[in-house]
Amino acid sequence: MRVFVAGASGAIGTRLVPQLVDRGHEVIGTFRSPQHAERVRALGAQPIALDLLDPGAVRRAVLETEPEAIVHQATALANARFSRNFDRTFAQTNRLRTQGTDALLAAAREADVRRFVAQSFASYRYAREGGPVKTEDDPLDPTPVATTRESNAAMRHLEEAVTDAGGVVLRYGLFYGAANDGLIEPVRKRQFPIVGNGDGISSFIHLDDAAAATVLALEDDGAGIYNVVDDEPAPVREWLPVLADALGAKPARRFPRWLARLFAGDAAVVIGTEARGASNAKVKRELGWEPRYPSWREGFVAAYASIALAERRKPDPAARAGQSPARLSR
Ligand SMILES: NC(=O)c1ccc[n+]([C@@H]2O[C@H](COP(=O)([O-])OP(=O)(O)OC[C@H]3O[C@@H](n4cnc5c(N)ncnc54)[C@H](OP(=O)(O)O)[C@@H]3O)[C@@H](O)[C@H]2O)c1
Repeated sequence: MRVFVAGASGAIGTRLVPQLVDRGHEVIGTFRSPQHAERVRALGAQPIALDLLDPGAVRRAVLETEPEAIVHQATALANARFSRNFDRTFAQTNRLRTQGTDALLAAAREADVRRFVAQSFASYRYAREGGPVKTEDDPLDPTPVATTRESNAAMRHLEEAVTDAGGVVLRYGLFYGAANDGLIEPVRKRQFPIVGNGDGISSFIHLDDAAAATVLALEDDGAGIYNVVDDEPAPVREWLPVLADALGAKPARRFPRWLARLFAGDAAVVIGTEARGASNAKVKRELGWEPRYPSWREGFVAAYASIALAERRKPDPAARAGQSPARLSR
């Protein structure tokens, strides 16, 4: 199949393109930052510079390359600084999920593209009621925290537009598996605390497993929404200590809710104490997907072994102050 991957140079795109090429697909890969052309070419795709927020350019790119399938993996989260206001951090990504999706779908219709798969998100989106793990049929949170409303609305827009058009939406868990994963620095710096009882559930997914599910979704001929998450949705109080250890970091701090609300805002409190996780039963059943890393327990260790080793080799600052390097290395 000729596959047009929007966002081929990003975290998921760079895992997806080689898997598509290995399966014999021909890939056109878009990038936004000029320096990423070579990255996309080296992965085995035909690189194309594209701003998804320019509908005319999107139309031209799709009509000229004549793909049979489109995958929308464009976000704008590189170097994102998470603040109390999620919507501010996600503003550009929200535009990619609304205007960008609309532009790609319009071009897909005009070019008779037969498959359309788009990225969405599973963690922290389901209604905060009932059991801890939710399926695609369960309701989304009807009252998301005020500072996340625009981001939630953008994901809803993407999901409705894509499924209305007969496409597939993949609600991925939290990505991990790269050296620049967003959680690494906050966990290393002990800026990601366990809030309250740490009961909020997160769903994770290794980037290679997310890419593998995406290939299966493309090669299938069905439509609909799939959670693409690992087998073990887990509360923060369980996974955060394991992640800190896998990174060679000191244990996470514990914050009472009021303190977390003061410093990090309501969304951080909800994520840490009330959020629900997602079930992967449907993607396994319907697409035959099996994760290579069924749990973040082994996935974190595999992904971060080299980081943890470097961290543990660093002399501790107290020792460094009083001892010579030769002595430290003993
Ligand atoms: N489910 C999740 O947990 C999740 C989802 C998404 C991202 N993340 C995390 O966020 C971090 C950053 O993600 P990332 O490395 O994929 O970077 P990113 O900045 O989010 O970029 C993703 C892709 O979208 C492209 N892009 C950005 N703006 C665009 C635009 N206006 N038009 C067309 N394409 C555009 C990028 O191109 P260029 O690279 O050329 O700029 C790249 O190919 C990573 O740690 C990642 O794991 C997590």
